Amino acid sequence: MHNPRIIVALDFSSAEDALRLAEKLEPRFCRLKVGKELFTAAGPNLVEKLMLKGFDIFLDLKFHDIPNTVANACKVAANLGVWMINVHALGGRKMLLAAREAIAQGSTKLIAVTLLTSMDENDLADIGLQGNPEQIVVRLARLTKDCALDGVVCSALEAANLRHQIGEDFCLVTPGIRPLNDRADDQKRITTPRQAIQKGSNYLVIGRPITQANDPLLMCQQLNSEISELIL
Ligand code: C5P
Repeated sequence: MHNPRIIVALDFSSAEDALRLAEKLEPRFCRLKVGKELFTAAGPNLVEKLMLKGFDIFLDLKFHDIPNTVANACKVAANLGVWMINVHALGGRKMLLAAREAIAQGSTKLIAVTLLTSMDENDLADIGLQGNPEQIVVRLARLTKDCALDGVVCSALEAANLRHQIGEDFCLVTPGIRPLNDRADDQKRITTPRQAIQKGSNYLVIGRPITQANDPLLMCQQLNSEISELIL
């Protein structure tokens, strides 16, 4: 498999736990996501170890700061050799452009978070963002594309509309995925891998269904086979 679509979220608090899980997986079936918790605990050293095992890494640190600081952070992250990094689109045009300039197009993928799905209309009004969240997501995705970033993180429910509004050449990375008949955990709106790909997602971020499975590799293979005929 040349382009695995599953990104396993390594939501652990130690390098040992993350490496134990990585030992059970194979790079041809998945990439790995290292987020704020694991990176704060284990740092670049762990990222390098995971890459040495052959995994592509999505470094999910969601940078959001003044343009100069974000640009420098992106450069250092890309120099680690990771496959993908991200920033907050709410950092605005100047920040997005600075991030883009810091990383050559075609090397490390640079994507943006639009709105955090934890925020509802009231939360958005609290911080002065009026309007309906779907429209704000589209506006932020357009801004992201305008600044030549490679894509956005979005829910599968937003994916079809974003694909329609922004076009094909834009990467959609989607969390909130659950296999058919699986537990939702704390995810409110879930989608199966098949539905997410059908709606236009390119990559699926999947955590607990794989990390807590009795056989994580088998689960990963099953999820891949659910989508294999859709991505050929
Ligand atoms: O275990 P689960 O599959 O729910 O993990 C989903 C991963 O995707 C977690 O790392 C979570 O932080 C991330 N995520 C999410 N919803 C978003 C953005 C990111 O679940 N809107």
